[in-house]
Amino acid sequence: MPFNTQLTRALGIRVPVVQGGMQWVGYAELASAVSNAGGLGILTALTQPTPEDLRKEIRRCREMTKNPFGVNLTLLPALVPPDYAAYAQVIIDEGIKIVETAGNSPGPVIRQLKAAGTTILHKCTTIRHAQSAVKLGVDFLSIDGFECAGHVGETDITNFILLSRARQSLGGIPFIASGGFADGQGLAAALALGACGINMGTRFMCTVEAPIHQNIKKAIVDAQETDTELVLRRWKNTSRLFANKVTKDAVKIERESTTGKFEEVAPYVSGKRGRQVFLNGDKDYGVWTAGQVIGLIHDIPTCEELLVRIEREAVETMKQNQSLYVAEGDKPVSSTGTVGKNTNNPGAEVYGVGKSKL
Ligand SMILES: Cc1cc2nc3c(=O)[nH]c(=O)nc-3n(C[C@H](O)[C@H](O)[C@H](O)COP(=O)(O)O)c2cc1C
Repeated sequence: MPFNTQLTRALGIRVPVVQGGMQWVGYAELASAVSNAGGLGILTALTQPTPEDLRKEIRRCREMTKNPFGVNLTLLPALVPPDYAAYAQVIIDEGIKIVETAGNSPGPVIRQLKAAGTTILHKCTTIRHAQSAVKLGVDFLSIDGFECAGHVGETDITNFILLSRARQSLGGIPFIASGGFADGQGLAAALALGACGINMGTRFMCTVEAPIHQNIKKAIVDAQETDTELVLRRWKNTSRLFANKVTKDAVKIERESTTGKFEEVAPYVSGKRGRQVFLNGDKDYGVWTAGQVIGLIHDIPTCEELLVRIEREAVETMKQNQSLYVAEGDKPVSSTGTVGKNTNNPGAEVYGVGKSKL
C-alpha cells in the first residue's frame, strides 16, 4: 500500500520525500533519479548561469524522467542579484508545476508563480516567516530546523520544537519536515509530528547519482554529526557548513576580527572555491554545505535503493509503534508476528497484527 499524505496526493509522487534544492548539486542527474525512484527531485535554478541555461536543464531532466520534478529558486542577498523574475518565467514557460522557494523577500516571485498556477513549497526556518508565506498563498511549507545544511536562520530552533509549532500555528497548511532526515525512522517521526513528508539535502548528496566527486561522498560517510560549523552569524547570514580547515579558519576570523568587516572573511567563504570542492574532490579546498545528519549517513546507495529503504523502514517503524500501546487487560502476544522485532523497545513484548488497539 503506498503512502497517502497531502504531499503525495498533491504532487503525484509515491514516497513523501523531497530532494531539496542544492547549489552545484541539483542538476538533472540527481533530480531525475529521485523522481524516478518515486520522490520529488528538484533542480536548482541558480546552479544554471542564466535563465536560458535553466530552460535547457529542465528539458534535459524531462528526457531523463517521466515523473514530476520541481525547481528550487533561492533568493539570497547579493550585490548584483540574479534576474529572479526571468528565472521564474522560464520555470512557468517550461510547464514546471512545483517550485521550491527559499530565502528573503520571496513575495514578488511567489506572486508571479502563483498567477501561473504553480504549486509553491516554501522553505523557512521560523514560524514567523512561515506565517508570512501562508499569507502569500503558498501551498506547502518546508520547515527547516537548526540541524539543516546551509542557511539555518538566526533563531536556532531544532525540529522537535519547530515541527510541532508548525502543526500548532500554521492553521492547517500542510508542511514537510526538513533538516536532519536520512532514514525511514525519521520519516515516520516527521509524520507523527504532523508533517506530510520530509525534505533531504545532505543525504541525497551521498547517492550514486549525485553529480559530485566521490571523495566528497566518502568524506560525508566518514564524518560525525559533530563535523559541521556555523559561519557568518556575525553578519546574520548563518550557514551550516562541513567542518574543514577553511571553515575553521573562517570561524576564527569571524570571532576575532576587531573590525567586523565582511571583507576579512569573504575569501574564505567564496562560493567559487566551494564549487571546486565538488569537482576536484579536495574536501579542504573551500567551504561546502552539509548538515548534522552527516552523522547518520554510512553508505552511498542509488536514489532508488535509498527511497525503497526509507519506505520500508518508515512502514516498519509505524507498525512497531502501534505495538507500543496496549489496551489495559489485553495480554501481550510474545510472537513477533508480521510486526517484526521491536527494535524501538527491545524489552517490550510485541503484539501481532490484529491485536493492536490503535
Ligand atoms: C550542498 C548543499 C547545497 C544547498 N543549496 C541550497 C540552495 O541553493 N537553496 C536552498 O534553498 N537550499 C539549499 N540547501 C539546503 C537543502 O535544500 C535542504 O533544505 C537541507 O539540506 C536540509 O537539511 P539536511 O541537509 O539535513 O537534509 C543546500 C544543501 C546542501 C547540502
